[in-house]
Amino acid sequence: MKSDFYKNFQIFHFENLDSTNLEARKMWNSGQIKDGSIIVADTQNKGRGRLNRDWISQNGNLFFSCALKIQKNTKNLSELSFVAAISLQKAIKNLFSVQNNVKIAETSIKNKWPNDILINDKKISGILLESEKIDNNSSLAIVGIGVNLTSSPENVMFKADNLQNFGIKIEKIEFLHLFLDQFEIFYQKWQDFGFAPIKNIWLENAWKIGEKVDIGSHNQKISGIFKEIDDLGNILIEGSGNIKKLTFGDVS
Ligand code: BTN
Repeated sequence: MKSDFYKNFQIFHFENLDSTNLEARKMWNSGQIKDGSIIVADTQNKGRGRLNRDWISQNGNLFFSCALKIQKNTKNLSELSFVAAISLQKAIKNLFSVQNNVKIAETSIKNKWPNDILINDKKISGILLESEKIDNNSSLAIVGIGVNLTSSPENVMFKADNLQNFGIKIEKIEFLHLFLDQFEIFYQKWQDFGFAPIKNIWLENAWKIGEKVDIGSHNQKISGIFKEIDDLGNILIEGSGNIKKLTFGDVS
């Protein structure tokens, strides 16, 4: 394991782990890491996705988790995954504009509810937010992020792609730094001004906003027009004259 600082973030880089989210939790509980630590692994044996899915974790892609101590009652933790999503979206967008072999006009980099990043309708990145109570005043939030830099799985429910296929060449720690540059800004914005500015930025690039979507949630499918997300990050869908609110699910 190697450890390095980037700005105020301490990065712990492992060759192989079960899951960076699990490791972050273990290292926090044994006092090895503090607020603002980042755990990275080149490969994961038990990479986990949302809704109990696996996250295929082959070398070349980026797998990391941020451990953050959040004061209880000041923030709704689920908002944090939107902070991470807009940071990723912006980092990828910037990368496309500097690597001039890529025609940015032909690509659209979107936020898919709740926390995926899509390029041209295919998944490039996903976020798994987990949390646990530290004491009466605070919680540990673990924001786990997978970014497809060089490969993407084939047989998945929602089509995936990777940055290399768009002509982007970037080393994983270099990408992590680009993400942290953005995350630092938006995390501060969230601390200072709450969820409203985060939500607005997320909505500016929301996939399928204003369009008809199908959402699979609780083994049922709900269809309607994607209107908004609310102040807790729930999705609001309009169908047959009324608005339905969903807390989790898959949009298609
Ligand atoms: C999803 O889209 O379902 C979320 C995927 C999250 C994957 C990342 S990879 C790093 C971190 N460690 C894990 O085990 N999962 C997250």
